[in-house]
Amino acid sequence: MSGRHLLGITDLGVDGIDEVMRLADTFVEVGRRPIPRVPALRGKTVVSTFFEDSTRTRLSFEAAAKRLSADVMTFTGSSSSLNKGESLRDTVLTIAAMGADAFVVRHGCAGVPAQVAGWLDQAGGASVLNAGDGAHEHPTQALLDCFTISREREARFGARPARPGVLRGLRVAIVGDIRHSRVARSNVLAFSALGAEISLVAPATLLPPSLAGWPVEVSHDIDALLPKCDVVYLLRLQNERMTEQFLPTLREYTATYGLTAERARLLGPSTIVMHPGPIRRGIEIAAEVADSPVSVITTQVANGVAVRMAVLYLLLGSGAPIGA
Ligand code: NCD
Repeated sequence: MSGRHLLGITDLGVDGIDEVMRLADTFVEVGRRPIPRVPALRGKTVVSTFFEDSTRTRLSFEAAAKRLSADVMTFTGSSSSLNKGESLRDTVLTIAAMGADAFVVRHGCAGVPAQVAGWLDQAGGASVLNAGDGAHEHPTQALLDCFTISREREARFGARPARPGVLRGLRVAIVGDIRHSRVARSNVLAFSALGAEISLVAPATLLPPSLAGWPVEVSHDIDALLPKCDVVYLLRLQNERMTEQFLPTLREYTATYGLTAERARLLGPSTIVMHPGPIRRGIEIAAEVADSPVSVITTQVANGVAVRMAVLYLLLGSGAPIGA
């Protein structure tokens, strides 16, 4: 990884993604130890600065930092001095003055992590890790998804992929609210960089206004696609980012695009089903499908800690061996 920040998937390139995935393999092993901790980031301070709701991403980053022996500070936008009128810049510089080495930033507006990185470049130079900015990017989600696909295929089917294009030849369908999804944007970049063929499956209203330059095909017929996919990647309807009525009813969405139990029977024998969470049972995925062996949703969460350890280590580590 060359730069100091991780703002988007293009900061990494194919080799950078591969480097993260290789290191994450090591950290999965660390996570299985009785004491899942290494001293690699002892003395470093990681601040999680979340201005938008999160369960898994915030806890995953914090667990990753702690397993690397970093000190962790947690900032939550809704209970901060922002409510007293402090500007975002002053808040960031205040935290930086306490000696933070990395800011993990989630914000409802696209571009905030890049803005924070700009301020920090002039004030001591802490790293910024984008933990999701508006409908823009969520790079560590895409990294953990690439890692999960690669490992699952190896574990389930003995398919040891050639590096660095570990998803070469795989067919991935991304289904749902692509228009408002930062996960979709980061995943299209990461999956295509690693060689996957990508289909977007969504109602026309939930596709971005333009797909110019996106290396994808578009389909509105999930039933035709399911038997041909290696990976079905479902997305939540991002109601919090919808400014208009994009769908007639939720029931119609589920009937046309939801992975119902009936539809799941169309999946090929080696297909895996993924979702970044939070899932909404009965809407984009039936409860019994989410809980069935085709679903790797909890594996994604588990892998997320190892992948975030890898990213933190690459950005903040001294390059010295990871340690005992
Ligand atoms: C996603 C997000 O916040 O972008 N969740 C996550 O981080 N795992 C997707 C979502 O909220 O639907």
